[in-house]
Parts: sequence; C-alpha cells; structure tokens
Amino acid sequence: METLDKIKLIYFFTDNDALNLTQIKDLMNLNSNEFISGVYSFISNFDDFSKFLPNEEIRSRHREKIKIWFLNLFSGTYDNEYLRQLKRIGEVHAGIKLPSHYVSATMNYVRNFIHNIIIKNIPASDKRNELTESVNKIIDINLDIIISSYISEGKFYIAATKFETKIIKFSSRFSYILDLALVVSLIIATIMVFLLFVFEIYRFAFGGGAFESTVVDILGAMLIVWAIRELLEEEVKKLKGHKFALSAFIGLAMAALLRKILIFSLAPGKSKEVAILGFLVLVLGIVYWLMNKSVKS
Ligand code: HEM
Repeated sequence: METLDKIKLIYFFTDNDALNLTQIKDLMNLNSNEFISGVYSFISNFDDFSKFLPNEEIRSRHREKIKIWFLNLFSGTYDNEYLRQLKRIGEVHAGIKLPSHYVSATMNYVRNFIHNIIIKNIPASDKRNELTESVNKIIDINLDIIISSYISEGKFYIAATKFETKIIKFSSRFSYILDLALVVSLIIATIMVFLLFVFEIYRFAFGGGAFESTVVDILGAMLIVWAIRELLEEEVKKLKGHKFALSAFIGLAMAALLRKILIFSLAPGKSKEVAILGFLVLVLGIVYWLMNKSVKS
C-alpha cells in the first residue's frame, strides 16, 4: 500500500524539487515537439513497435498522451491523483504485455533528452546540478511506479486517504493474526488426532478392542492427519505470501467422508449411507480434480 508522500520520502523528493521542476516547465514546453519526434524515433527502433502501435491513429493518440505525461513531469503537483495516473500507465503497458525493458529504455532516453536541454540552456552552476538532481528523482519515481504494475499486480494499492490507509493496515494485520491463529489451531488439531491414533492402538493392545474396528479407526485418524497436514501446508504457504489453494479444504472434506465410510462399512444395515457418502466423495473428487487441473493449465 503506497501513497505518493511515502514514495517522495523514500526518494528524498522535497518541495524544493517540485519547485525546481516547475522552473523548467516553460523550457520543456518549448522543446515538447522535439521531444515527441525524438522519443518516437527511439521507440520505433524496437522490434515489436508495429505490433504494439500498429496504425497512425493509435500512434498519434499515444504521442499525444506521452506529451501530456512529459509536461506533467514539470507541473509541480505530485499528489495521489498523479500516482494513480502513473499506476494506470503501468497497468495499460502491462496489460498489452509490453516488455518492461522497453519502458525502462524509453525512460532512459527521456532522462538524457531532459539533461541535454538543461545543459544547452542553463549555464554550468550549482543551480543546474540541483535541477538535474530533481529531474532524476521524478524520472526514477515515474519508472518505479510504472514498473511496479508489472511486478505486483494487485499488491500495489493506492490509499485515497490516511483513514483508508489505517483501515487497510489494520485489516491486513488482523488477517495475518487470524492466519497465525489458524496455523496454531491446525497444529493442536493434528496433535489431538495423533493422540487419538495412539489411543486406538493402546485400546487394542490393552483393552481388547475388536481388530477390524481398530484398523478402521486408525485408518480414519491417519486420513484426517493427512488432510490437516495438507491444510497446514497451504496455510503456511499463504503466510509466506502465496495464494491459498482452496482444494486443500476439499481434500479435508473427502478425508472426513472417507473416514465415515470406513466406519459405516463395518456396521450392518448402513449400505444406503455408505452409497450416499460414496456419491459425495465422487462429486468432491471431481471438483478436486477440476480445481487442480485449472491451476496447472
Ligand atoms: C517512458 C515510456 C512510456 C510512457 C511514459 C508511455 C505513456 C503512455 C500513456 C500515458 C499511455 C496512455 C495510458 C492510458 O490509456 O491511460 C500509453 C499507452 C500506450 N503505450 Fe505507452 N508509454 C511509454 C512507452 C511505450 C512504448 C515503448 C510502447 C511500445 C513500443 C508503448 C505503447 C503503448 C500502447 C500500445 C498504448 C495503448 C495505446 C492506446 O490504445 O491508446 N508505450 N503510453
């Protein structure tokens, strides 16, 4: 979750930098046509230029949009709306699968173009160095945000207000704590089922329980331990930032049903229940298979 204030802080982008950029706005405006033709002849060298910008209509629209983006570099207003626009630019390029190297290389061209204009028009001085530093910061911030859309779609969230930022922070912390609590509960559940497993063996050895039902009970307990282990693994993956595989829950449900089938299979007159449970396991099995298939493809 980011706000432009936070990003500006990271780059040490101060009000003075914003002021410096506005001071060269007119100069850049004067050179904006040269900028557009230069950047376009640079972009047109890319192999896939015609694939991404196939006709004159799209190219002239793009030229217009790049020009606006270029002039906005020197507007002096860098708020969350500005951040949102940059994020959108990143999303549009990521959406058309434009290689991120093209954006980075073009940004490098833009940086050099601006440096050259400054060198040509402003005599060597501390002020010129200061202007160049401010230009570098805004170009780096732009590149950073645009490329972020390529790296972490969805993770890059822009909060509109401080209150929203607080709510989102609180919710993500809360959900993290819930995940941790779930992991601890799953560990406790596994230990309990494992104790059940040991108890069944103990009962068989010392209490004289029936051999057949003891085997079935042990098998049932093992099934549940296996399913909880799957769930635990998924939960740990989620804590590490991966996606949660919902199929682990289906696995657990199948294990619970299979356990019931094992138990009912020993009881007389339970064939109807066994048939229903068998049908449910079949349905869940199909769902499990379909889910895994869609994840792989
Ligand atoms: C510094 C680099 C670049 C900047 C700042 C930039 C800027 C923009 C902007 C502002 C838009 C409009 C986004 C919107 O709809 O809100 C856009 C769209 C687009 N850009 Fe770029 N661009 C860059 C590099 C490139 C390159 C290198 C290519 C291709 C070789 C490219 C291809 C496109 C295409 C195909 C669209 C969609 C055009 C449309 O359908 O209107 N861009 N770009």
